[in-house]
Amino acid sequence: MNAPINVVILAAGLGTRMKSKRAKVLHSAGGLTLVEHVVQTAIAITPPENVTVVVGTQAEQVEAVLAHSGVRFAEQKEQKGTGHALMMCRDALASQGGLVVVTYGDGPLLSPATLRELVNRQGASDHAATLITTRLHDPTGYGRIILGKDGEVQAIVEQKAATPQQLSIPLINSGIYCFRADLLWKYISEIGTNNPAHEYYLTDIVEILNRAGHKVAALEVSDSQELLGINTRAELAAVDKIFRDRKVRELMIEGVTIEKPETVTIDYAVRIGADSIVGPFAQILGKTEIGEDCRIGACSFIENSKVAAGVYVAPFTLIADSQVEPGAHIGPFARLRAGVHVGAGAHIGNFVELKNTQFGAGAKANHLAYLGDAEIGDRTNIGAGTITCNYDGLKKHRTRIGKEAFVGSNSTLVAPIEIGEGSYIGAGSVITHPVPAEALALGRARQVAKEGWAAKRKKKK
Ligand code: UD1
Ligand code: CA
Repeated sequence: MNAPINVVILAAGLGTRMKSKRAKVLHSAGGLTLVEHVVQTAIAITPPENVTVVVGTQAEQVEAVLAHSGVRFAEQKEQKGTGHALMMCRDALASQGGLVVVTYGDGPLLSPATLRELVNRQGASDHAATLITTRLHDPTGYGRIILGKDGEVQAIVEQKAATPQQLSIPLINSGIYCFRADLLWKYISEIGTNNPAHEYYLTDIVEILNRAGHKVAALEVSDSQELLGINTRAELAAVDKIFRDRKVRELMIEGVTIEKPETVTIDYAVRIGADSIVGPFAQILGKTEIGEDCRIGACSFIENSKVAAGVYVAPFTLIADSQVEPGAHIGPFARLRAGVHVGAGAHIGNFVELKNTQFGAGAKANHLAYLGDAEIGDRTNIGAGTITCNYDGLKKHRTRIGKEAFVGSNSTLVAPIEIGEGSYIGAGSVITHPVPAEALALGRARQVAKEGWAAKRKKKK
């Protein structure tokens, strides 16, 4: 049996510099939490059961976002430093041997290729460990790498403990290491708290290994972007931007036109078919799937929804948790709130809101309407100002309208209500009783015209 590659992701800290109630690794960049990004990279190089996430701050929430990934968890009850966090895995991993990769939950840009290269380097060498480093123009905040004459790593000095001369070293500790498991677990208990922060610094392991006669190698990578760690909101925004740029570039390579790509926000998991066009400032989020030949208008917002091929979403339209069939036309200024299914070729126009509604193929609601908890038949026309009164103050009720019906403007449909296929509702009606198929329903006061009334009134004055 091959010796295993275990990956440990340290994610127990609060992240004081974020000034947040939420644990740092639960903040999102590019539409995924930081810890999810790191887990995705880890499970690209080793099976999920070989990945251990060290949790502590808001452990329950961190475990919840990773529940479907199949990774394991170790708990660090008190956050006493990165060295202490790794110690929490010793009992579970020490007997397995092989290699232990350690990475931090706040470094979400790391690619599987770089992580694989680290493992390959370490696997092919007789060093105790290999760590990833890079040169930064501004290394402030990172640990600095102290190299010996032979190019091997002698020590890592943390920002707070470094001398002015060490602070000028541009080589930084990325926080990504690959250890020989036997040596890591043998020496980890020698890490102490003799530093300004009184924490167990994992970085001290390098000096400890050197003292015991073992060597630590540095793998310098030129793409420093991949190694950025997030400690502040400003760094979170910078990393988010990198993810957004990557995503639009990927989509453009796949044949999607993106107008003013620097303005759009498209989440990690979103899929968009070729020859679709995304307008400026569109936000396409969550697990949204968009088909080919669609047009997503400027400033539209689409979240966790499925939009089939050839759909036109006009500008300023909101679509959430809904599904739109081919060739439909939605917006501008329309809102599919949740649980909406729009049939093929249907038209939903400006200031129309739908919620929990099946809207039939070829049906139309072109202006100013609210359709909630409703079923609208194929090719039915909903006039401007139509409202389904779905809520009686206590409960929600359904409205069912058959196919090819014509609902006149300003109709008030008091649910529960059934309106038969092919029927007509006169404009301005309040409908409280079922309407049979092919009937005309009128629910409004009859108009009266009093001849000469105005002239008489004027004479009285
Ligand atoms: C750390 C490194 C530094 C490196 C930098 C790279 C140490 C001592 N320093 O500093 O050399 O340049 O990362 O980004 O390791 N964590 C725990 N338990 C704890 C403390 C931290 O799980 O008790 C986790 C945090 O949730 C975080 C990660 O470890 O995901 C790193 O912690 P952080 O405090 O951000 O370390 P840095 O100060 O950035
Ligand atoms: Ca950090």
